[in-house]
Amino acid sequence: MIIIDADPGQDDAVAILAALGSPDDLEVLGIAAVAGNVPLDLTVRNSLALVELAGRTDVPVYAGSVRPMVNSPVTAEYVHGATGLEGADLQTPTTEPAAGHACDWIVEILMDHADAEVTVCTLGPLTNIGLALVREPRIAPKIRELVMMGGSFFEGGNTTPAAEFNVYVDPHSAHVVFTSGIPIVMMPLDVTHKALTTPERLKLFVDMGTPAGTAVAGMLDFYNRWDMEKYGMPGGPLHDPTVIAYLLDPEIFGGKEVHVHIETAPGATQGMTIVDWWGVTDHEPNAMVMNQIDADRFFALLADRIGRLG
Ligand code: RIB
Ligand code: CA
Repeated sequence: MIIIDADPGQDDAVAILAALGSPDDLEVLGIAAVAGNVPLDLTVRNSLALVELAGRTDVPVYAGSVRPMVNSPVTAEYVHGATGLEGADLQTPTTEPAAGHACDWIVEILMDHADAEVTVCTLGPLTNIGLALVREPRIAPKIRELVMMGGSFFEGGNTTPAAEFNVYVDPHSAHVVFTSGIPIVMMPLDVTHKALTTPERLKLFVDMGTPAGTAVAGMLDFYNRWDMEKYGMPGGPLHDPTVIAYLLDPEIFGGKEVHVHIETAPGATQGMTIVDWWGVTDHEPNAMVMNQIDADRFFALLADRIGRLG
């Protein structure tokens, strides 16, 4: 069983669709929307549109945190467009979010389950999970694993020279999560920058000929542009689906159990994930940090799962 916490965003959308296309492998208990790439009202709207596109309105969407735990909101329309899902011509959702705040739902559903039964997948800033942990620390042992897209180390930052967007936006919530004792799998830019949506890989979705495939092709075509211009890459890095792909086929990835410190102080290093890759401190490891990926197997898996949707 999994909880998906997201700020869709095109790459979140591909991750959500891959998860919803894998009902035999993943029981999605619900989606918690968080402010991130675009403001909360849009991440909620986009989450609803995606579950409708997938024909999975059995999966509830909850509205979560409207801003980070401490810092002022930071959004990324410059990457994702004004709607957050530029490139996909999705219908305006006809369904409504479930009643109640996502943080309350996260606490409730985790406390309703036995220890280590639910996996939490975070695709955006960690605000909802950070606040839920502050509200009810007893949820920590309920979480089997927290698989998160965020952070960066040898690769440098994509929002400041030091920090990746999700951790930069809410470093305080990331600090709460990384000091919680929850088993963490971290997908930083060091691995996502090796998962590039090249023209050949984009064609997997262009050729699908389904509403979901067409939406993904349109979203990725738009979303690729900013990174390709910025980094001179042959394709945009596909960040968030690494989280879902790890749950479906962990062999795709490689990494190392190391200690990660989150820099929360304001200034040039705010949101930096300081990864003790060489074990030069005596800090106990607190995360499996991935830096290797079989990118062709990754894209084939995504295409297979999204191809199962109508
Ligand atoms: O830095 C990339 C991350 O920030 C991705 O999750 C993307 O969707 C944005 O949230
Ligand atoms: Ca995201």
